[in-house]
Amino acid sequence: MRERLLALKEEALGELSRVENQQQLNDLRVKYLGKKGRLTEILRGMGALSAEERPIIGQAANEVRGAIEAVIEEKQTGFQKAETEARLAAETIDVTLPGRPAARGAVHPISKVIEEIEDIFIGMGYTVAEGPEVEQDYYNFEALNLPKNHPARDMQDSFYITDELLMRTHTSPVQVRTMEKMKGQVPVKIICPGKVYRRDDDDATHSHLFTQIEGLVIDRNIRMSDLKGTLLQFVQELFGKQTQIRMRPSFFPFTEPSAEVDVTCAMCGGSGCRVCKQTGWLEILGSGMVHPRVLEMAGYDPQEYSGFAFGLGVERVAMLKYDIEDIRHFYTNDLRFLKQFVHL
Ligand code: PHE
Repeated sequence: MRERLLALKEEALGELSRVENQQQLNDLRVKYLGKKGRLTEILRGMGALSAEERPIIGQAANEVRGAIEAVIEEKQTGFQKAETEARLAAETIDVTLPGRPAARGAVHPISKVIEEIEDIFIGMGYTVAEGPEVEQDYYNFEALNLPKNHPARDMQDSFYITDELLMRTHTSPVQVRTMEKMKGQVPVKIICPGKVYRRDDDDATHSHLFTQIEGLVIDRNIRMSDLKGTLLQFVQELFGKQTQIRMRPSFFPFTEPSAEVDVTCAMCGGSGCRVCKQTGWLEILGSGMVHPRVLEMAGYDPQEYSGFAFGLGVERVAMLKYDIEDIRHFYTNDLRFLKQFVHL
């Protein structure tokens, strides 16, 4: 029996020396030390031994078991170490590698200026209105005191879709839509940002698509001085406290009187430079007192109510604010241009 035990030990150690992985090791453990394993099988014969032999064989069996266990233990540790090392190697991250920057978008400068202007007027109690870009001739022209064949329609060369539908040439139709919605109630105090379209040859300062912000206030006793005060407050918030305005008489069929409004040039402070063409002033908007005919057509009694309106060119303001020399930059979507506004 002793010989069988020793032979078993030799065989087990021999096989163990050739194991290559955890699975084989487990199999061998079961094969030699398991409940139905080879060692148990031999020990089953213990009953036939004499009382003197039994402890001696028992001790030998324990030694064999111990020797096999020790080797299994050693192999086990070796496999675990190798596995840990393999995982560490596979999952290594090189923290010194430069990161891949996530591409961040930027708010378009036109959107940025619109938001800024909205904030200023919201602060003065205005709400923001919107209207369609494909507009009815009635709202774009007729209700603004520009009947069909009126010569002033030529001021705004239009993209017509049908006889009665066109791409709006200005945001002023939203004045009419708002007044209709308000059904003669006051106060009306809105601004309306949006895209407008004109048949123009595109160059550094002209675009067939551009952006306006319309303003409209209607109430009792609204006067030209309210318009002037509002616009002064507005430009000082937008361009800085030192900014002044100048109103020049002008003509729009839907306002009377009408005025074009200039601001002191932010580049030179009014002393004259390249941007203001040495005049010290820059035109940014058209404005005036809402024409009585316009009020009347939209359901407001001009004897009782009066109002002012203005229409501001957003690209023009953005060009002045950020010193942009060509309006086409806004629409050609060159990322090198747009990326300059990431941090604004
Ligand atoms: N709608 C005019 C334009 O596009 C601007 C304007 C708006 C003038 C409101 C007066 C009042 O030129």
